[in-house]
Amino acid sequence: MKFFIDTANLDQIKEAQELGVLDGVTTNPSLMAKEGITGRDNILKHYVAICDLVDGDVSAEVNSTDLEGMIEEGEELAALHDQIVVKIPMIKDGIKALKYFSDKGIRTNCTLVFSVGQALLAAKAGATYVSPFIGRLDDISTDGLGLISDIRLVYDNYAFETQILAASVRHTMHVIDCAKLGADVMTGPLSAIEGLLKHPLTDSGLEKFLADYNKGNQ
Ligand code: G3P
Repeated sequence: MKFFIDTANLDQIKEAQELGVLDGVTTNPSLMAKEGITGRDNILKHYVAICDLVDGDVSAEVNSTDLEGMIEEGEELAALHDQIVVKIPMIKDGIKALKYFSDKGIRTNCTLVFSVGQALLAAKAGATYVSPFIGRLDDISTDGLGLISDIRLVYDNYAFETQILAASVRHTMHVIDCAKLGADVMTGPLSAIEGLLKHPLTDSGLEKFLADYNKGNQ
């Protein structure tokens, strides 16, 4: 299972990278704005700064909603750095753009996916990653994890190579449940990754081991 961090905050990205388990980064226009990164040139520079910090895939989102605009923006983003994956929204022209980029060998991440049907279309169009937003489904009393499970079933039925990138992951249990269900990738905050570390028996066990070891060193 690949771990991506879902942020545009360079300090958090650096911290996750230093942990040694980071496989990539996802961002979106809202995450960029949260860090005060606005305006096309600043956003493009920020993508390059992220690529320079990490080894893996970095999703960079187009902001056009028509095919021509998505192609123009996507090609510009892909040319920025070889780690860039072009993020395309799940709309009709987005499907055409996914197919266009897939035929050209440019990797894509189909975003804003909320149903199995949408995920099926993204795979048919050759998306590299499909991003079901599980947290936002949970927010409206709909089963986000159930969607991961359904997409896994459909993709396995036909051996689609599109990777399931569980997005809008909010906490550590989402990470664990996505791993159980066979999501290929999860993207979430650093806190969701660091939560995997925690167990009170680890802490108390270590405290006792250190206390016993130090008996002979006093
Ligand atoms: O990866 C998608 C993500 O950025 C959306 O997350 O927490 O805003 O639903 P959230």
